Formats: sequence, structure tokens, C-alpha cells
Amino acid sequence: MIPDDKVREVAERLSIVEVVADYVSLRRAGANYLGLCPFHAEKTPSFNVNPAREIYHCFGCGAGGNAFSFIMKIEGLNFPEAVKLLARKVGIEIEERQLTPAEKKSQDEHVQFRRINDLTTSYYRSVLLNGQEGEPARQYLAKRSVGADISDAYQLGFAPDRRDGLAKHLKNNGVGLDIALNLGIIRKSDSGWYDLFRNRLIFPIRDARGQVIAFAGRVLDASLPKYINSPESPLYHKSSVLFGLDMALPTIRTGNSVVIVEGYFDHLALYRAGVQNVVATCGTALTGSHASLIKRHAERVYTLFDSDNAGKKATIRSMELFLEQRIPAYVISLPAGDDPDSFLAEHPSEEFAALRNKARPAFEYFVHSLLAETPPDSVDSKVRIIDDIVPRFRKIADSIERDLYEKEICRLLGITVHAFRKRIGGGNLSPHEAPINRYIPIQPADTVQDTLLTLLLNYPDARAEIERVGLESIFTDDYLELARLLLQSMAVSEDSQVLSQLVETLEKPEQKSLFSRMMVSEGYLADINWRAVLDQCTRSHEKKQLASIKDIAARLAVIDPGSDEYSLLLKQADTLRKRKSEL
Ligand code: CTP
Ligand code: MN
Repeated sequence: MIPDDKVREVAERLSIVEVVADYVSLRRAGANYLGLCPFHAEKTPSFNVNPAREIYHCFGCGAGGNAFSFIMKIEGLNFPEAVKLLARKVGIEIEERQLTPAEKKSQDEHVQFRRINDLTTSYYRSVLLNGQEGEPARQYLAKRSVGADISDAYQLGFAPDRRDGLAKHLKNNGVGLDIALNLGIIRKSDSGWYDLFRNRLIFPIRDARGQVIAFAGRVLDASLPKYINSPESPLYHKSSVLFGLDMALPTIRTGNSVVIVEGYFDHLALYRAGVQNVVATCGTALTGSHASLIKRHAERVYTLFDSDNAGKKATIRSMELFLEQRIPAYVISLPAGDDPDSFLAEHPSEEFAALRNKARPAFEYFVHSLLAETPPDSVDSKVRIIDDIVPRFRKIADSIERDLYEKEICRLLGITVHAFRKRIGGGNLSPHEAPINRYIPIQPADTVQDTLLTLLLNYPDARAEIERVGLESIFTDDYLELARLLLQSMAVSEDSQVLSQLVETLEKPEQKSLFSRMMVSEGYLADINWRAVLDQCTRSHEKKQLASIKDIAARLAVIDPGSDEYSLLLKQADTLRKRKSEL
């Protein structure tokens, strides 16, 4: 834990321009500095740094934040690590708060875990590289065309066919075996310590920073089980680890997309073929934590699973996760019978690139594979298909996308849009779904609300006026929450340092992006008649809200009058109507 005042001291000594300039070449452009965004590929600069506000924002990809969040994102660090890195840069010494005895114990343990994993990795690696015992594994790798460079990149190893090779090695290096027991790589029986992995090729599993946290071991022949994996441990939670993320991050950053595969060897095959923005799940289905990990690093994901039935199921399940987290997902399909490894063994990587270019949006893939399975040739089958589609269709966040799919689905099934909508309205929404946001989404970039928020930020008189009429009548959704936070924060201090700290407390990426956009855009509303702009904006904003009465009415017509959504929408329509009569 780093004390708060230390963090502020570091922030005060920093200039965001200097911090960013270590990574991006910047030139002055008005109130801001401008450069090529390091977080997505671009040819014309849209990456802005505002020194007065201590904020950066990219108008191309929406990334934004202060100096700490910049370092976190570009170096792949967590907050305390970023603070420490920057503290070193400005020559501030950070003494951490005294740890409690329990924290101290857990920290010591982690240091030992790390040492054990490093010792284990180098032990298996030296068995693979040196001596007679490693020969079968060397032959196996040669047979699968895994060269020295790839073996080194993955730090592959070999667990010899011995009962306690690793246990002895750890013991000889002074490791307390009881501690190593927590990592599951050695075990204890009545007759003593023994190894988990025997006669297996070893893949070390590393976290995003490249620290080894677990191991997977593959047999060298056709015996079963094909893989044994480290069990869950204090370091390793397989449902939130993506194998190969550390190797993929540089390439993910430049292209902003990531390919997900299901196997260690599939990962290796792609990486070897030069497709290096690739990660793999570790013998589990993709989870929500995987999806949010991906969202933190990439804007687009491609799934590349086996072409068999299990692979199809996994593809569709992952589509749902990506819909929920609003990550655009595409499906790369391989010829029947191929997996990525076998495909790349027989085809040049250009052919793989061609497959990737032909990747389909996941939802489209889903609808088409459903229709291939159940041809819509009877009323019965159409009903079944619609029932499969509806719960997933509801998860599509983008209204334009939803519109297009609606048309496509209706065309494919030969039903009317009216009938399809009726079906959607008829189903029960599960309680955790937020009906209003779901059906009447706000525009992602609302220029009117943008302007209003900028006014609020820059013109104290406009701020007072906005507070007088009430934030709720001016802002909606993310804008409203952000406006509230801004007012709260500015009531305490209008210092730009304090404002730029606000970005650390925002959890939603949409809000973070919105905020940094506002903070770097102060120039464009300089010296204006704020009252005229405010009047204009509120009027056009109200009009837009009134238009939505129509949407609400349409929705009310098709849903159950007893539902929560119905009463919510009714209330919303009432408020809007009242406002209209006042205009
Ligand atoms: N897996 C596992 N345990 C098993 C079998 C599979 O954990 N007993 C996981 C591994 O993560 C494996 C992935 O499922 O990488 C995919 O399995 P499979 O396709 O059988 O393995 P590959 O890694 O593709 O290996 P190979 O190319 O050698 O068949
Ligand atoms: Mn495979």
C-alpha cells in the first residue's frame, strides 16, 4: 500500500507531457500536444495530451486518463506499480505503509512461490536441453518442428520419468517443500515427496507480466490424459489466465485485436507462423474474467476454435460473453477436420491471413450455424430457432447492429419483423437485465451533451445555471453520472491536479474515455457566449428526448403491462410528456 499523500506528491512533480514523451513523439498544437496514439495503429495523429489538465485522450480509440493510467496501460502495470515507476522518475522515495503480520506473511510466501516457480522452470528446461534424459522430448519437439527459438520463447521443459526429480531439486536448493506443496507441483505420500509431472513436455504458464504461475505437461505419445495441469493455487486461477498473453501484448497493442485459441500447441503454431497476437485458454471454457481481461487490452477479438461440435459450442458460448461485455467478436473458421496447428502445418501463413480476413461477426456465425443445424422448414422448427436466437439477440448492445440482424433473421426465417418483435417482447427479462438502457441506448458520442459537459467544466456561470435547472434535466446515462462527479469534485477544488485524479475513480471505460475527451477539448469552446450555447443545447437536447416518446410508445405496445419494464417506461414517458407541455 502506498500512502495517498505520496501518490499526490508524485503527481504534483510530474508533467504528463514528459511522461508521455518517453513513449510518443509529441508536437505542440494549440493548448494540447499531439502525437500518434501508442494504443492503436494510426497514420494521422489523434492522440492529445493536455498539460494544463494533466490528461491525455485519443480521439481515434477513446483511450484516456492521467499520467498514472497512461503508464499502467502502456507498461501493463497495476496502479501501485505505476506510481512506483513514476516516483523513481521524479526522484521520490516510496516507503510503503507497514504491513500487518498477515500481509507480511502472505508477501513472504509470494516471494517464495515465485522462487519455486523459477527454480522449477529452469530445472525442467535444463532436463530438456542437456543430457540423455531429455532425448525423447527433444525428438518429440523435432518431430513437431519446434525449433530452439520457439522452445526458448516458451521456456519449454521436460519432466523426466522419475518419481521425485523436481522434489529433490527444490530440496537441494533450500526450498521448504511444504510451501511448494501449495503450488501443487509436488505432493506428499506416506513414502515421501513425489512430483506431479512425470515424463511430460512442460509448458510454463505465465501471467501478463511474464511471471511463471503454473505449468502444463503433455505426454510424448498417445497415452491419456494428454495434459496434466497445475491445480488452482494462490498464484494460479485458470478461469482468469490467458496463456501467452505476455508474449502477445506488444502485438495486441499495435493491432488492437487478439486471436483466442483453445490449446497450447495451437498457440505455439500461430506464434511460430508470425500470428503473435494470440492467447489460449488453459483447458477451460472461456469465462467472463477472460473476456474482461481481453477487453482491457484489445478492441476486437477473433475466436479460432476447432471445427468440431465442441468447438462450435465454445464459439457460441464465447460470443455471448463478448456480447455482454460489448467486445466486437469475429469467428475464424477452419476447414473441417483441421485445428490451427494442423492447418498451419500444411498451409503458408498467407492462407491463414486470408481466413482471418474472411472472419465473420460472431452473431452472424451463430445464426447461420443454427440454421444449418435446424433448417427453418416448418413452423415448429422456426419457433425453436427463434427461441434460441432471442436471448442472445437481446444482448446486442448496438442499436444499428440489432436492426440489421433483425432484418437478416426475419429474411432467413421468412417471418415479419412484427412477429419477431412480438417474440422478443413476449419473453421474460431476467431480473438483472436493465430494460431501459437495453432498449433505448444513448448515442455513444452525443455532441450536445459533450458541449454541455465542456461548458460545465470551463464556465463557472454556466455551471451555476446548470445546477439551478438540475443535472437530470440536461444529462442522461454516463454523462449524468460524470456530471455529478465533476460537480462534487469541483466543489472541493478546481485544481487541475484534483480533477485529473478523478479519472482514477471512474470504473466504466466509456466514462473514462468521455472524461479525458472533455479534459483535452477545452480549447474549442474558448471565449464564447456560454448562455447562448447553453440555451441552444438544452433545447436541442430536449427535442431529442421528446422524440424518444415515440420509441417508448412502440415498446409499450408489445410488452407485458404487468412487467417492471412497463411501469418504468410509463413513468419515463410521463415525465417527457410533461416537459413537452412546458416547452
Ligand atoms: N487440455 C487439458 N487436459 C487434457 C486435454 C486438453 O487441459 N487432458 C487442454 C489443454 O489446454 C490443451 C487444450 O485443452 O492445450 C486443447 O486440447 P488438445 O487439442 O487435445 O491439445 P493441443 O494442445 O492442441 O495438443 P496437440 O496439438 O498435441 O493435440
Ligand atoms: Mn488441438
